[in-house]
Amino acid sequence: MENKSLVSIDQYGRDDVIRILDNAARFENNPNRCLLEGKIAATLFFEPSTRTRLSFETAVLRLGGRVIGFQDASTTSSSKGESLKDTIRMVSNYADLIIMRHYLEGAARYASEITNVPVINAGDGANQHPSQTLLDLYSIRKTQNGLLEGKTIAIVGDLKYGRTVHSLISGMSHFNPTFHFVSPDELRMPDEQKQFCDRLGICYTEQDEFTPALINCSDIIYMTRVQRERFTDMEEYERVKNVYILRAEMLENCKPNLHILHPLPRVTEIAYNVDDTPQAYYFEQARNGLFTRQAIICEVLGINHLI
Ligand code: CP
Repeated sequence: MENKSLVSIDQYGRDDVIRILDNAARFENNPNRCLLEGKIAATLFFEPSTRTRLSFETAVLRLGGRVIGFQDASTTSSSKGESLKDTIRMVSNYADLIIMRHYLEGAARYASEITNVPVINAGDGANQHPSQTLLDLYSIRKTQNGLLEGKTIAIVGDLKYGRTVHSLISGMSHFNPTFHFVSPDELRMPDEQKQFCDRLGICYTEQDEFTPALINCSDIIYMTRVQRERFTDMEEYERVKNVYILRAEMLENCKPNLHILHPLPRVTEIAYNVDDTPQAYYFEQARNGLFTRQAIICEVLGINHLI
């Protein structure tokens, strides 16, 4: 069944990305609009979330729609053995839009194939987090004088399991980026993403040291959390969990346009003294999620004319 579901950032070309970011800017100017009157969005969160769920729900409410759903699957009939297929079929009887986070890679695509109701992927395992990528691109554009082209982006931390970084590489691929991938050996960027860069001629380096030279040449540093929930070997997690910690003193010789992004939540990877520097942008980044998600909801529901 064909609908306008957003399951992967790869669905969107450069023009689509620019259109959505421009619409997000319109929502930032005026987030309260009656565009979803009479519509119901279902937020189905099979994994924990703070920002993604609350910003999507706020987006729907500020657009005049209503929200049903769950944030804890153990309170639903999936805990009695109901399949994802049946859950999606049921929810499709009630809602005009499904926003789903699931621990299984491919779950959002599967859901989109069994319903006519548009599905937005709010994160599927270690695979994709496309709405995060669009808010990341919105944030990069805002912090870089309105430009996405030609940016040098250091991506630091858990590059193996980090769905936000996998999506970010695809989303930025339209804008001639240079990437520096910084991770311990155990958490290196998967071959799939490196081969994607190779195919498109995107420059990247891989290193395990987070050096001053790297910090000082970057326009964006994208820090990530080492995700305990994705490890099967807890000893390995303990070995790598505190490997990179960004501190304010490390930013003394950075470029004037450098900004620090992080999808959040953070654990130890950004010291609290970074929060008071002009480079810290991660809380504004999370705020941008509201406007970007308003634009995404309108995109998948085919709501145009957002002047
Ligand atoms: N960035 C992000 O996905 O945050 P949450 O897990 O809190 O939704």
